[in-house]
Amino acid sequence: MTSRILPFQNDPIKPTAPAPVTITVDGVPATGAMGQSLAGVILASGTLRFRRTSVHGAPRGVFCGIGVCYDCLVEVNGQRDVRACQRRARDGDAVVTQHDELPAAPAGDAA
Ligand code: FES
Repeated sequence: MTSRILPFQNDPIKPTAPAPVTITVDGVPATGAMGQSLAGVILASGTLRFRRTSVHGAPRGVFCGIGVCYDCLVEVNGQRDVRACQRRARDGDAVVTQHDELPAAPAGDAA
């Protein structure tokens, strides 16, 4: 057993070359492989912050990677709150990182 990644050309199973997938992350092109999750392609592009929290603006990214924590929410093709770790990247997907502001308290409310 080895920890190194086997190049697909040397794989005894002889898989075909992975088809490339190109998405944009905040308008910047990012390339991955067909079948890869959006989170994988986004992380490979060097983006670690997928969203910011509403209250403190703290950065969030992939935490669990299995669809439980909701820290990887992004906007995909105009649809908000998509868990990037649970969706496969499709060619042409436009991903936007999220930040939600809390609604302002009505005038006169003492918080
Ligand atoms: S990383 Fe936890 S839901 Fe996606």
